[in-house]
Amino acid sequence: MSTPILSGRSIVKTFGARSWFGGSGKAKRAVDTVDLDVNEGETLAIVGESGSGKSTLARILLGLSTATSGEVAFYGRSMAGFAAPDWVTFRKSVQPIFQDPASSLNPRMRVDTTLSNVLLRHRLATRATLDSAIADLLGSVGLDADQFHDRYPHQLSGGQQQRIAIARAMAVRPKLIIADEPLSSLDMSVQAQILNLLVELKTSRNLGLVLISHDLNVVDAISDRVIVMYLGKVVEAGPTRQVLGNPANDYTRSLLAAKLVADPHLARARRLAMDSAAASATNFNPSDPKPDLRGATR
Ligand SMILES: Nc1ncnc2c1ncn2[C@@H]1O[C@H](COP(=O)(O)OP(=O)(O)OP(=O)(O)O)[C@@H](O)[C@H]1O
Ligand SMILES: [Mg+2]
Repeated sequence: MSTPILSGRSIVKTFGARSWFGGSGKAKRAVDTVDLDVNEGETLAIVGESGSGKSTLARILLGLSTATSGEVAFYGRSMAGFAAPDWVTFRKSVQPIFQDPASSLNPRMRVDTTLSNVLLRHRLATRATLDSAIADLLGSVGLDADQFHDRYPHQLSGGQQQRIAIARAMAVRPKLIIADEPLSSLDMSVQAQILNLLVELKTSRNLGLVLISHDLNVVDAISDRVIVMYLGKVVEAGPTRQVLGNPANDYTRSLLAAKLVADPHLARARRLAMDSAAASATNFNPSDPKPDLRGATR
């Protein structure tokens, strides 16, 4: 098997060794001795209740935060030993998408400026090819360049903002996208569209995707493997069908049970949307047995 894009060994992140009131508070382990591999082209879901350490882990994998101890390697090379050019390569290869697109876009920057900055910085376009590169990028996320190139973020809907954030991530032709709850701030109908877009881009460009999500229907529909976190630890990991269909761990079982909702109409609408996303995912075979997650929602 080829070297993972990212591998983490014994990752620990502690916060708050001191209390606010002067005494020495107990350090809290937000991420507690986590091992994981992210392979090329796969979709790895990270699930777990609020506060279980998912975003903290994602920030470490993105190189936005350093682990208190443990190691993260990028294609087998420890990120602790990275020099400046290594970071340039890393930043091109591993791109984030965040929950709230409005705050991940510069409010004073037009769409075309946002994209041209990235393209020029990484020498992926010249002044001569810039306009067509921007139009291609906008087209790839389903936006018409003529209509959207000169807009500011506040002139876009939440779904359109997230499309721009995705276009910016795709501009550098990454190997891996790490998406932290990319759908949570969006309306339900828009969630399905953005999910479809992510799946389509992932499939057509053989991208790896780390998807942090509370929505087990989404995880079920599009991920190859799942990691379940609880209080900073990985309590269960494995192929999606196995983890969600036949969980070995009590916490995973309670997570699945807690996702059952009372509103069957909501659940059905969500299910239909997710089925359409799943149908376009390469790893998804509609005839496969599926875990019974009907009604699972956030
Ligand atoms: N910068 C920080 N300083 C102190 N504590 C932090 C910091 N960031 C996160 N934490 C704590 O670390 C723990 C894990 O937080 P994290 O944001 O990773 O959880 P999460 O699984 O992403 O939750 P959610 O599903 O709500 O997004 C929480 O207890 C949180 O309060
Ligand atoms: Mg989070």
